[in-house]
Amino acid sequence: MREKIVAGNWKMNTTIQEGVDLTISILEKYDEIPSGVKLIVIPPFTHIDAVGSILGESEVALGAQNCSEFEKGAYTGEVSCEMLDSLFCDYVILGHSERRQYFGETSEKIVRKIHLALSHQIEPIVCIGENLEDRNSGRHFEVVGRQLKEIMDGLSAEEMDDIIIAYEPVWAIGTGVTATTEQAQEMHAFIRKTISEAFGNETAQDIPLLYGGSCKPSNAAGLFACEDIDGGLIGGASLSAEDFIAIAKCHK
Ligand code: PGA
Repeated sequence: MREKIVAGNWKMNTTIQEGVDLTISILEKYDEIPSGVKLIVIPPFTHIDAVGSILGESEVALGAQNCSEFEKGAYTGEVSCEMLDSLFCDYVILGHSERRQYFGETSEKIVRKIHLALSHQIEPIVCIGENLEDRNSGRHFEVVGRQLKEIMDGLSAEEMDDIIIAYEPVWAIGTGVTATTEQAQEMHAFIRKTISEAFGNETAQDIPLLYGGSCKPSNAAGLFACEDIDGGLIGGASLSAEDFIAIAKCHK
């Protein structure tokens, strides 16, 4: 059985006090969610320490939104995996479309970051997804397949067993337009099949695949009910404890 996951990517939102309050509210509602659902909060770097202290020994896991492609040293402004590990971060989002689009993140860099994260026992949530133009011109499978292949080509079978993949169609991120359950399921099935062809069926069946892109309480149940969708990477709706928990409750 694959793990059921709901991860909240706060992006560049919340002051430290708002982040603290949000974490407290999530913990207050935590017992409403079905057992077996893994909740991950992913605040900005500046909030990780405070959020981690509040989460303490709770079942809610902590993640980061990015990490440096370098181990340590003279890289002004960067945050290393060693630092994240020392803050008890268990997850890191890598290759988010916003990082690919605004910060020149290439598959090569993403692969380097995956190696580093795994060497510090941090589980990468690797994002892939097509933009609107790709979708409208019918090239979505080709584009997602290529992004996936570029990642897979850089990883060993052992590494592949330790990552999570998030399919996030760029046209659905922050737009309020969600992929239909059919569109999401067919892409998730395609991703699983592509992994199976490269690494075998066991790896493909074990890897958690998350959907991201305007996932909210009103559409999460339909998405999570799909055979190949194991949960969600939630942006906007994760900034409300009520919505975030309501989404987690959509797991059956
Ligand atoms: P959204 O963002 O839920 O606000 O669309 C998802 C994401 O970018 O991870």
